[in-house]
Amino acid sequence: MKTTTGYSGIQIALHWLIAILIPLAWLSSGGAEEAWDGLEKGVVPGFVPHVALGIAVLALVVLRLAVRFRRGAPEAPGVPGSLAVKASTWGHRLIYLLMIAVPLGGMSIWFGGMDNGEIHGLFANVLMVVVLGHTLVALYHQYVLKDGLLRRMMKAE
Ligand code: HEM
Ligand code: HEM
Repeated sequence: MKTTTGYSGIQIALHWLIAILIPLAWLSSGGAEEAWDGLEKGVVPGFVPHVALGIAVLALVVLRLAVRFRRGAPEAPGVPGSLAVKASTWGHRLIYLLMIAVPLGGMSIWFGGMDNGEIHGLFANVLMVVVLGHTLVALYHQYVLKDGLLRRMMKAE
C-alpha cells in the first residue's frame, strides 16, 4: 500500500461520518430488536433506522477501503517497527474488520433470517470498546504527548 504524507479530504470526511453513524447504529439497536421480534410474530415492520444506519456504515466503509487501497494512507507516527506503530496498524485493521463483520452479521439476521442476534450484539459491543480505546489513544497523543495527532484527521494533506 502506498504511503502518503496525510489523509485526503474524502478520507477525513468518511472517518468522521462513520464515527457518527456507528454510535447511532449502536444506540438504535433497540428498535431493531423490537422489529425483529415483531417480524417473528408476523408483524411487517416499517422503516427501521438501525437497519438503514448499519447498511450506510457498511457502504461507507467499503468506499473508505477502496479509497485507502487506491490512494494509500500515512504511516503511523513513531519509530517504524516499534510496538506502538505495530499496535496502531493492527488496531486500525481490527477496527476495519469489525466495521465490515458487524453490519454483515446484522444483515444475516435481517435478510437471511439467521438467529445471530447475540453474536451480532457481542461483536458490536467489542467494536464500541475498541473504538473507545482508539479515541482515548488519539486524545492521549493530542493532550498528553502533544504531538498534534488529531490534526491528521482534521486537515487534508
Ligand atoms: C466510531 C468511531 C471511530 C472509528 C470507527 C474510527 C476508525 C479509525 C480508523 C479505521 C482509522 C485508521 C485510518 C485509516 O487508515 O483509514 C482512524 C484513524 C484516526 N482516528 Fe479514528 N475512529 C473513530 C473515532 C475517532 C475519534 C472520536 C477520534 C478523536 C478523538 C479519532 C481520531 C483518529 C485519528 C487522529 C486518526 C489518525 C491516526 C493515525 O494517522 O495514525 N477517531 N480512525
Ligand atoms: C455498525 C453497524 C451496527 C451496529 C453497531 C449494530 C449493533 C447492534 C446491537 C448492539 C444490537 C443488540 C443485540 C442484542 O444484544 O440483542 C443489534 C441488534 C440487531 N441488529 Fe444491528 N448493528 C449494526 C448493523 C446492523 C445491520 C446492517 C443490520 C441489518 C441489515 C442489523 C440488524 C440487527 C437486528 C435485526 C438486530 C436484532 C437482533 C435480535 O433481536 O435478535 N444491524 N445491533
